[in-house]
Amino acid sequence: MGRLLLCFLLLSVTSGGFTSPIQEEWERLLHREDMLRLGGNIVLSQKEVAANQKLMKLKEAELNEAESTGIFPPSMHFFKARPHILRSQVFQVLRKMPKGGALHLHDFAILSVDWLVKNATYMDDCYMCFTSAGDVRFLFSRPAPVGMLPPGCSEWILVETYRKKLGDVTEFDKGLMRNMTLPTDSEPPSQDVIWRRFEGAFLSALGLICYAPVFKMYFYEGLHELYKDTIHYVEIRALLPPVYELDGTVHDVRWSMAAYRDVAKQFAWENPDFLGAKIIYTAHRGLPIAEIKEAVHIAMQLMNEFPETMAGFDLVGQEDAGYSLYELSDVLEIPSKMGVHLPYFFHAGETSWQGKEVDENVLYALLLNTTRIGHGYALLKHPMALNLSRKMNIPMEICPISNQVLLLVSDLRNHPAAVLMAEGHPLVVSSDDPSLFGAQGLSFDFYEAFMGFGGVRADLRTLKQLALNSIQYSALSREGKDGLTRIWQRKWEEFIEELTLGYSGRDL
Ligand SMILES: *[C@@H]1O[C@H](CO)[C@@H](O)[C@H](O)[C@H]1NC(C)=O
Ligand SMILES: *[C@@H]1O[C@H](CO)[C@@H](O)[C@H](O)[C@H]1NC(C)=O
Ligand SMILES: *[C@@H]1O[C@H](CO)[C@@H](O)[C@H](O)[C@H]1NC(C)=O
Ligand SMILES: *[C@@H]1O[C@H](CO)[C@@H](O)[C@H](O)[C@H]1NC(C)=O
Ligand SMILES: [Zn+2]
Repeated sequence: MGRLLLCFLLLSVTSGGFTSPIQEEWERLLHREDMLRLGGNIVLSQKEVAANQKLMKLKEAELNEAESTGIFPPSMHFFKARPHILRSQVFQVLRKMPKGGALHLHDFAILSVDWLVKNATYMDDCYMCFTSAGDVRFLFSRPAPVGMLPPGCSEWILVETYRKKLGDVTEFDKGLMRNMTLPTDSEPPSQDVIWRRFEGAFLSALGLICYAPVFKMYFYEGLHELYKDTIHYVEIRALLPPVYELDGTVHDVRWSMAAYRDVAKQFAWENPDFLGAKIIYTAHRGLPIAEIKEAVHIAMQLMNEFPETMAGFDLVGQEDAGYSLYELSDVLEIPSKMGVHLPYFFHAGETSWQGKEVDENVLYALLLNTTRIGHGYALLKHPMALNLSRKMNIPMEICPISNQVLLLVSDLRNHPAAVLMAEGHPLVVSSDDPSLFGAQGLSFDFYEAFMGFGGVRADLRTLKQLALNSIQYSALSREGKDGLTRIWQRKWEEFIEELTLGYSGRDL
């Protein structure tokens, strides 16, 4: 029997004048659970109450429809769920909702690949080669590149020449988009396979994005796409790989940091209600330890040279396949031993395993004073880490679609964040690599959180708390947080106004 039906029955019983002690206790406990839930302490204004009623009516209608049709997007794989989500009214509301900051995004997956294919590959001097698996790699060069072929790649071909010879350019361009995204019709067979495809897609995009002019444009357009999704601040995890010019000149990490800083400043100047961007420098956790050590030293230098832009350090790549934080302990303790402040933002516990050093990373990250934890998917399996993160007020960055596509969870109602949200654990929702998954901004992930693991009772308070969390747990200074709060507050009031008064069911 559905909860709603139960409530209805209870109501008819109580209106009949009789409530049993068990029923009273049940109501009292449910009320306490309601207060515990993420956002449960928020008291809504009159206007917000009205907006909440509209939102919950939409949510209820969609839940009822899902029950009768058997089509419930959060319980489906995102690649199949996407078209259903696009038709959802709740999703339209979430798109408009000011979400504060996006705190877990990666440098080369923030912008829809359409732009890379339709724009970057149409620029002059763009060459490509085919790997033995039929995937493409790119390089901009003048004069034509000689050698420098990625492992297993064919000869370099000028993309423009190749297109001229083709009958069907549209089909070719679609193929290029497939190279840089993960969606397929068939389910990938294992986590390792999907991670290899993930890294292949990343390599396809790399040659395009690391060309200096594209590097800047990509970031600018990426900020624009996020901004259009009602996001007013971003923190980007960035590998800062070598960025190159047409003549083969290669820039260092400082050039890339300066480029990020300048592009974000330019964008914020053109859009005064966008606060800006910070960079979390990342190294691949599969690198030799000496190189990770080198990266930690670079991170300390960058903190010094770019105090406004640089937020801290993190390790990326498949956690099951790389070094654990425990194994990297010596390297990661260097800053504190030197008395240098290098904030950490570790990915930790992004695994299905339990009882390996990989899931124990959640505990180790906390002991290394991490500022936030990326994913923290394994947190529930570690009561000490759960307790400690609560005590230290360290949030998890929950990325539902990423976890599903990388095969940690299939039905998003069963995501561990369901428990974390139910008990009001500190967390934010983010999207990891939206362009690789065929998503955009944060709205798709907010939809999964709100409809899926948030449960039936997650409401406007939950959403408001998620936005507030993204400000509170950001790497911004106190002044920065105040600034972002002011921007967000104004946008929130407009959003509530629109939801309360302007909403006619179609015109959102
Ligand atoms: C590519 O994008 C830039 C802006 O990022 C724009 O100025 C330019 O016209 C675009 N070019 C093409 C071919 O779409
Ligand atoms: C990559 O793009 C090429 C050219 O369109 C296409 O032939 C190939 O099938 C694509 N690879 C994938 C994995 O889609
Ligand atoms: C973490 O913080 C504690 C308490 O402030 C401190 O004693 C410890 O040295 C820090 N550890 C690291 C690795 O930064
Ligand atoms: C977690 O912390 C609470 C108090 O903050 C304590 O009552 C509880 O026993 C702790 N649980 C574990 C597993 O340590
Ligand atoms: Zn990530």
